[in-house]
Amino acid sequence: MTAKIISGKDVAQEIRKELHQEVLEMKEKHNVVPGLVTILVGENPASVSYVTGKQKTAHELEFHSIQDNQPDDITEDALLELIDTYNNDPSIHGILVQLPLPKHINEKKVINAIDPDKDVDGFHPVNVGRLMIGGDEAKYLPCTPAGIQELIVRSGVQTEGAEVVVVGRSNIVGKPIANILLQKADGANATVTVVHTRSKDMEGHCKRADILIVAAGVPGLVKPEWIKPGACVIDVGVNRVGEKISEKTGRKIAILKGDVDFDAAKEIAGSITPVPGGVGPMTITMLMKNTVKAAKYAGGIA
Ligand code: GUN
Repeated sequence: MTAKIISGKDVAQEIRKELHQEVLEMKEKHNVVPGLVTILVGENPASVSYVTGKQKTAHELEFHSIQDNQPDDITEDALLELIDTYNNDPSIHGILVQLPLPKHINEKKVINAIDPDKDVDGFHPVNVGRLMIGGDEAKYLPCTPAGIQELIVRSGVQTEGAEVVVVGRSNIVGKPIANILLQKADGANATVTVVHTRSKDMEGHCKRADILIVAAGVPGLVKPEWIKPGACVIDVGVNRVGEKISEKTGRKIAILKGDVDFDAAKEIAGSITPVPGGVGPMTITMLMKNTVKAAKYAGGIA
């Protein structure tokens, strides 16, 4: 059997079209334009590439968008002050500080300084708490896990009662996706197990999964024989394993590999996300979705 390939590119495109329509309507009916600032500290190549993608999409959707580049020796106090400026700027509805930050800056302090109503990353403890409670309380879901849920639901995979196994327990992916899929809600209602570096039988758990979500950051961690025939496999791993020259642009680009051996896994799984082109494009799209939501709340439209 060859798995159905779940294209994050296609699903992301579909959602972006829906969002663009919403943005045009908000502008016309309410004179509200979603505003997003992405703050980049330093020049980490991966971060530059992520932030460029976010800004490009914001432009395409006709947001008011600002790219705020700061030197990598900016002081923590200066960064906190900058965040405060955007917290108080009514034209900005969403604030994203690209992570990781240089070592001299305390990430927790920075995340906590963002107004929870403008925290379109969904990383502020208030929004993490809201997600745990679920239902109407949940406001901004973190972007990668929210994108994973959309991919699963829009590709027609049943979550209700499904055995979901999440590999990895990060605050950005593992913990929130586990919480999202166990909610009492459509597109959730799953039985969720989270495995991690200290789990006794990672393989045994993975083999039971109807939906296997791998976010460990270890290339090829999940072996093809760990996959239950017909399972839905979501590979969140984006591991830079080398460089090559792009055929399109002639420039050097990273060679990316997932946490799952895609070629072997696609012969066993029922559906699977590729790397790149799977979860990646969804993360940016869900950031746009959260920013539209934030603008609606601020404009009294929601
Ligand atoms: N670095 C890697 N992923 C993310 C993300 O989703 N948000 C932010 N702010 N930084 C990141």
